[in-house]
Amino acid sequence: MRTATAYRGSIFYFKDSATFENIPTSKKENDHSQYVYLEDGVLIIEAGKVSAVGPYDELKEKIKNMKQVNYGDKLITPGFIDTHQHSTQSSIVAAYGEHLLEWLDDYVFPGESIYDNPESAKADINFFLDHLLRNGTTTAVSYGPLFYEAADLFFEELNKRNMRFITGNILMDKDSPDYLRLTTQDNYDISKRLIEKWNNKNRLSYCLSPRFALSCTEEIMELCGALKKEHPDLYIQTHLDENVAEVEAVKKEYPWSKNYLDVYNRFGLVTERTVLGHCIHLTDAELEKMKETKAIVSWCPISNNFLGSGLFNVERVLKYTHNITLGTDWGGGNSLSMFAVMDDAYKVAMLQNYKLPSMKRWYMATFGAAKSLQLDSKIGNFTPGKEADFIVIDPKASPFLKYRSEKVNDIFELLFILMTLGDEKVISATYILGEPAYQAV
Ligand code: GUN
Ligand code: ZN
Repeated sequence: MRTATAYRGSIFYFKDSATFENIPTSKKENDHSQYVYLEDGVLIIEAGKVSAVGPYDELKEKIKNMKQVNYGDKLITPGFIDTHQHSTQSSIVAAYGEHLLEWLDDYVFPGESIYDNPESAKADINFFLDHLLRNGTTTAVSYGPLFYEAADLFFEELNKRNMRFITGNILMDKDSPDYLRLTTQDNYDISKRLIEKWNNKNRLSYCLSPRFALSCTEEIMELCGALKKEHPDLYIQTHLDENVAEVEAVKKEYPWSKNYLDVYNRFGLVTERTVLGHCIHLTDAELEKMKETKAIVSWCPISNNFLGSGLFNVERVLKYTHNITLGTDWGGGNSLSMFAVMDDAYKVAMLQNYKLPSMKRWYMATFGAAKSLQLDSKIGNFTPGKEADFIVIDPKASPFLKYRSEKVNDIFELLFILMTLGDEKVISATYILGEPAYQAV
């Protein structure tokens, strides 16, 4: 017999019908049609999936004989989705003093070289995944290691943990140090092997991951385009318009291109399953192409601030596409917490006189990302039947948080203080497919 568990607590999630435009931005709108907020609710999980959710008063009879876990006034909500991160960069987080291109040369490439050794790769990968779960992120679009053994190991560890993840071996076949560059053929062969072994295996999706136009030959990008044609369900991720010097270098390197995005587009890499990291210095023509192709933006404000890359203009990009998701860019980003990302997204928008409400940012970090990634039938909210990846948040995790959260009037304010003041310490537990994957001590 399958056993069900009932989790009691305060519950928040977006409904299936929620979109970036239709979600309310403040209590004043008094519109509960796009989200569910239950101050005393119950989430029932059975065989790794949501089987029911509702107010405690309505479900108390039903759960009488079930296993129950009472989280009191803690908030039970779907896990975060980080759409841009480097699983291989934990060792160089918080590296001083350089902008993108010098930072890659001085810190990132040497740091990633430890992944040619499966032993050190395994320890690093497991540290990274533990830290991700500590931060309440249950799904990510992530750059995996360059080398086959380490990339395979990454899939293996993700599979063991049952995580829904989109990743692939990073591809780089030019202008990188010898110790971190493979031939075009080797890059391609590794991708082929990993696609065969891991794409659509359990909860894993393979992602073609050309690092960026400056690390990739036209040949490898063409081969990626061919793999995408062969396997239309593959995701693609790369970097775009992150830094002014990078944009200039791409112009020089690809004189035939209309703009940076055109380089990727030439090889069939700009699709509705393509996640483009950063997108800060976009031209109007690039924005038009993003709109036409429905490519997904991953806005990475903590990284952009840390590396001094620039201010993403969310107001402008929203005029073309609502396919905007959020990423830590761990490595460049100095936190794996989506709270930190939502916080900096607010500040970056404020610097440009644009207000980004708490609900909209929470949507981008959860259900909105699931929708953009075409995973919303599986994850991102608590509609019965969805996979039970959820987190438990303690809004009173520190003396000041307790003091401040006791003064909030509604869910809009609660989300706002969590994303402004919260970090990994507010995550009490992270569940993957209904099983505890992290629990704060
Ligand atoms: N562009 C190419 N590689 C990288 C990387 O590792 N991090 C960031 N932030 N940008 C990149
Ligand atoms: Zn990145």
